Amino acid sequence: MITSEMQAPAVTPENRLDFPPGFFWGCATSPTQVEGDTVNEYAGFRARDGSNPDMGPAHLRRYRYDFKCLKSLNMKAYRLGFDWGRLQPGPMAELDRDALLRYLEMLAELRSHGIEPFLTLFHFACPRWLAALGGWLHPESPAWFADFAARLARFTDGEVRYWVTMNEPVGYAALAYVFGQFLPGRRWRYGQYATALGNLQLAHARAYDAIKAQSPEAQIGIAKHIKEFMPLRAWHPLDRLGSWLALRRFHHDGLRRFVQAPSRSDFIGVNYYGRLRTCGLTGFSPACGSSRADLARYGADCDDMWEQNPDYLLPALREVYRQYHLPLFVTENGVATDNEQLRLRLLRAHLLKCHEAVGYGIDLRGFFYWSLMDNFEWIEGLGKRFGLMAVDFGDDNRRRDLRRTACVYGEIAKNNGFLPAT
Ligand code: BGC
Repeated sequence: MITSEMQAPAVTPENRLDFPPGFFWGCATSPTQVEGDTVNEYAGFRARDGSNPDMGPAHLRRYRYDFKCLKSLNMKAYRLGFDWGRLQPGPMAELDRDALLRYLEMLAELRSHGIEPFLTLFHFACPRWLAALGGWLHPESPAWFADFAARLARFTDGEVRYWVTMNEPVGYAALAYVFGQFLPGRRWRYGQYATALGNLQLAHARAYDAIKAQSPEAQIGIAKHIKEFMPLRAWHPLDRLGSWLALRRFHHDGLRRFVQAPSRSDFIGVNYYGRLRTCGLTGFSPACGSSRADLARYGADCDDMWEQNPDYLLPALREVYRQYHLPLFVTENGVATDNEQLRLRLLRAHLLKCHEAVGYGIDLRGFFYWSLMDNFEWIEGLGKRFGLMAVDFGDDNRRRDLRRTACVYGEIAKNNGFLPAT
């Protein structure tokens, strides 16, 4: 039970911040961003810097090594995705045997290291056949997705306990049909946005039922992007209205659709990357990095992508928990930077807020750092360095090196807590 009067425990350097036993310390990735050998709609796609997903960290080739690294970092969980397009060559088709065997091998390998897989089924990329048929605008798309989920649940046979049906469906639909940044790159098509979102909601609900039918013990949810929205100019009525609308549409309405009947969820994943400032009704700052310099005037703390604000993670978690009372995971949080001091400072600051959330009685069960390794960032390409492991994209073998933050995070996971001052 949480009430506004409850206080989080005071934090002093002597006061070790312990997390609940069994807390899932983890890292996250998504298939298109790390695998290589891309076969979904992003095959051949070029980001702003000219790079494409195949130039990324080649995780599909190097996952055994990567899982050893997870193990050496004392990770308890790994949030990975299986690529729908790689597994299913057409609507309702049999799963591709080779792809399935390789993914099953990955699960077995994770288990052999004692690492719990959290499996994402849709992370922004449609199979090519689905894209050709109209993507999430197609009325059969929910049924096709549920069929994919059912087959996977059957073949994984209880091996996967935590399922994230989809990653950030509300943000995805907006970026694909309103802001034109994700494929199919449409702008201001509000009707299509609403159709896609409706189908995604249905797809989640049907996939939920399909997985539960196979595996009643499975825990199933979505990962929802939560941002702080703030008016760029506090005095400007449209900026203020923009913030209010974004908060309502993206957070409250968006989350409700996927959590409450007729949808269902056993937990809620929160992806948190800080603050967006609204300018007018349709503009956000920084727009994928474009106006970070301007934000400095407002005293903003920015990485190479976003304005960061660890403090808001606490009210965000409190609000979601107050509304739904479901177990929560921070399914993504991380920083795009070459500056290791900044990465480390922000990791600690976010973990401090997670600890406070636990102190308030919120049932927070895990934290997943985005990302295990440098990867292909959707719009920006290879230059945005989110990884705990630095990847040399010029090297044939995509050499990996652990960054300092990785080692600190590994110690935190090992101790299930940390001293705030160290
Ligand atoms: C997405 C990731 C992405 C990250 C950084 C998240 O919202 O789930 O795929 O790389 O943001 O932009």
